[in-house]
Amino acid sequence: MSSNAGTIKIVEVGPRDGLQNESKILPPSDRIQLIEKLVDAGLRFLEGGSFVSPKAIPQMENSEQVWEVLSGKIPEEIDLSFLVANEKGLERATKVGVKSIAVFTATSDAFTQKNINRTVMESINDFRPIVKAGKAAGMRVRGYVSTVFGCPYEGRQPIEKIVEVADALLKMGCDEISLGDTIGVAHPRQIKEVLSRLRSVLPMARLAGHFHDTRGMALMNIRAAADEGVRIFDSSVSGLGGCPYAPGSSGNVATEEVVWMLEGFGFHTGVDVEKLLTLGEWLEAKLARPMRGRLFQSKPKLLNYFEA
Ligand code: HMG
Ligand code: MG
Repeated sequence: MSSNAGTIKIVEVGPRDGLQNESKILPPSDRIQLIEKLVDAGLRFLEGGSFVSPKAIPQMENSEQVWEVLSGKIPEEIDLSFLVANEKGLERATKVGVKSIAVFTATSDAFTQKNINRTVMESINDFRPIVKAGKAAGMRVRGYVSTVFGCPYEGRQPIEKIVEVADALLKMGCDEISLGDTIGVAHPRQIKEVLSRLRSVLPMARLAGHFHDTRGMALMNIRAAADEGVRIFDSSVSGLGGCPYAPGSSGNVATEEVVWMLEGFGFHTGVDVEKLLTLGEWLEAKLARPMRGRLFQSKPKLLNYFEA
């Protein structure tokens, strides 16, 4: 790739996807500080939390507070998005004036039942009026498809199912569709197959790649997806995260590693790796555990590495 390969949009999911799977529950004040530090590192698209049952995901309780404090502080152009599980989730988001939400389903019925107590079709039917109402209220709406490249209960997923679910989310009004490798089983050949098929029916510019690094393949998979034309990737600072309903899922691919790799291929991300590495130290103190990211572990002096 050339040294000017274009711009990649990074969606930072650490404050939601990351923290939802940490055993130490951070109070909203820490979650707010984390988001402020991420914004300071150059992230412009972030997940701030979720409006789901606190019995299911106690780590995301009081997400209202996160939005209420930050909406008055962060620049207008920052897209701070919140997961909405159902009508009640939308009510909570609407009440505090959230401007960006995400709905979430999967290709696999077994996973979707465990995650949100619905089949995939039931979830699509339930999300349709939620997305419509969100759009009518002027919200940005993202749609997640989990288990695209494999399900912990059903294994490999039929490609037509992936097309069907992604297409249904786009048709109901989602602005962007994030394709989740929930348990980190994807490999580059499969990515090429899935994206080649999706390209024939869906606009590539609205597809995002959401890779978990369970088997150390996430960076390779991002490279493969970028080669296929994907220009939006989700990642989590210090590789925080996982999914409580997907045994074997590990953290999302680490944001600093994605940025380091993509900048190395000549893409522009606008994200400051040094600041993310410093944030890793803050997270170690807050979460009382070592951060496992390889770039973080190596603690290099990165300044000027990419200058000519
Ligand atoms: P349910 O049991 O079918 O819901 O759960 P219900 O309507 O029967 O309600 C049960 C209880 O939850 C009630 O309380 C409700 O009030 C409460 P109770 O009467 O027992 O005291 N409740 C709520 N409370 C607050 N906010 C709400 C809400 N809804 C119900 N919105 C439900 C269905 C969806 C609620 C539940 O299963 C749930 O919250 N699941 C959490 C799912 C979740 O957050 N999963 C993780 C995110 S997905 C992910 O990580 C994958 C992704 O990263 C992509 C990838 O990697 O693949 C996106
Ligand atoms: Mg995830």
